[in-house]
Amino acid sequence: MPGLLLENLLGTNTSKRPVWLMRQAGRYLPEYRALRAEKGGFLALVYDTDAAAEITLQPIRRFGFDGAILFSDILIVPYAMGQNLEFLAGEGPKLTPRLVDSTLKGLTSVPERLTPIYETVRKVRAALDAEFDSGKTMLGFAGSPWTVATYMCAGEGSRDQHETRAMAYRDPSAFAEIIQAIVGVTVEYLSGQIQAGAEAVQLFDSWAGSLSPAQFERWVIAPNAAIVSAVKARHPETPIIGFPKGAGEKLPAYARETGVDAVGIDETIDPIWAARELPQGLPVQGNLDPLLLLSGGEELEFQARRVLDAFADRPHVFNLGHGIGQFTPIAHVEQLLGIVRNWSR
Ligand code: CP3
Repeated sequence: MPGLLLENLLGTNTSKRPVWLMRQAGRYLPEYRALRAEKGGFLALVYDTDAAAEITLQPIRRFGFDGAILFSDILIVPYAMGQNLEFLAGEGPKLTPRLVDSTLKGLTSVPERLTPIYETVRKVRAALDAEFDSGKTMLGFAGSPWTVATYMCAGEGSRDQHETRAMAYRDPSAFAEIIQAIVGVTVEYLSGQIQAGAEAVQLFDSWAGSLSPAQFERWVIAPNAAIVSAVKARHPETPIIGFPKGAGEKLPAYARETGVDAVGIDETIDPIWAARELPQGLPVQGNLDPLLLLSGGEELEFQARRVLDAFADRPHVFNLGHGIGQFTPIAHVEQLLGIVRNWSR
């Protein structure tokens, strides 16, 4: 039996709402911090498949979320494409060599860096089946090509992605090769996750909001559409959620043109606008402000209800507009779950 989450992604408008939170496995959980300290770092956790499976399950055991999102990172794809990857404490990820001053041809791909991730998916899927009777959904994910390219080119995160945006204008054919290479690896990577037991997958396009309309068509919509059609050719039954963060008024075009089964929206979008402007019946995921979850109180309750009410007429997966912050109190997550579980349409 498909769980509540999968039902909504497949287009059924259920009376109760499924809920999961982006970055639900992570630093706001004491049990995550304990395991991370023991294993000595983020990448060590990702490549210890027992630990990664355990971390994926931690928020399900504690809160009973409807979906378990694979514990990994979008930067595993550049790592498998041959860049070196480090997560430096307090500094965020570093990829070398940066593609603004080196070429794709200089990289030697290391596809074995993807295989342990599939092992984690298998372990989580088996544990979900063994421990929970009511259909929990296993979610896989990858970064979208534009967002992944911003890290590959600049070698690190940046506030406005200016180096990558400039490179895409300066040398569109070299940049298109990078995007195409990411598309190819991402299709394999998502298919591998689905074969291992992922029941739905999400494409995270965290930096989709920094592009002008024509660049958005070229570097966000087109590559996501290519991934969706290639993954669907192999796995037609598996829903794909697209999350183009910051896409704003470009969301309806993204929803129509990429072929995603559900669209994730961030907290800058008015849910009432989204309910009106997005294709009728299209499942939507989102979009409570993560800072409301940090603050809690009556405003959290009011705004969470507003999101739930806005999407009453279409399938909806309750989520935040972006990842949960590391200082979020556990009690506020519990408060939110109470609100979502008490609601029905
Ligand atoms: O959602 C989940 O719980 C699943 C796991 C997951 C992680 N990263 C684990 C992680 C997912 C889906 C991601 C996606 C991701 N990673 C994105 C897209 C979504 C978004 O947040 O915009 C991006 C841009 C990244 C790249 C990345 N990974 C950065 C910039 C950082 C450092 C900043 C930070 O938040 O720490 C990471 C590290 C990272 N990825 C952590 C986790 C739990 C923190 C590692 C730690 O210090 O313990």
